[in-house]
Amino acid sequence: MDKTEKYSLLIKQISALIDGETDLVAVMANVCAAIHETMGFWWTGFYRVVDNELLLGPFQGPVACMHIGFGKGVCGTAWKEQRTIIVPDVELFPGHIACSSLSRSEIVVPVLSKGREVVAVLDIDSKELATFDNIDQQYLEEVCKMLSPLFVKH
Ligand code: SME
Repeated sequence: MDKTEKYSLLIKQISALIDGETDLVAVMANVCAAIHETMGFWWTGFYRVVDNELLLGPFQGPVACMHIGFGKGVCGTAWKEQRTIIVPDVELFPGHIACSSLSRSEIVVPVLSKGREVVAVLDIDSKELATFDNIDQQYLEEVCKMLSPLFVKH
């Protein structure tokens, strides 16, 4: 199966998994597990915006840093700039936060609320250089759009 076929299946799987579900933690946990297992990434997880920082959420992979500031690292930059960031070589990204020395490339996709505010980011790391391209971006943005309605502010 090529990458596009894997992602097409993944989107259907995620759609079925989250159908009718309302608990954010349960949904984020299963969504990152589905992405991680289907695509075979090194680290896949969510950070939520909590008290004006990114706080670690459900993930698959080795332990990771728990707090990331606005504009810090790839995640904080994706939050600040409200856009997906693809990093082909983490060593060339100024301010990259190395949670694992084995991470070589990375993609971070913001989850936007209905009001277009960043409420979380989906962060995926690879042990290989230049793993992520516009196909990953397209499908992972679709996944993040599917999660957006669950981030209702209380
Ligand atoms: N590398 C990220 C930090 C999170 S870990 O990769 C899980 C960054 O620079 O924001």
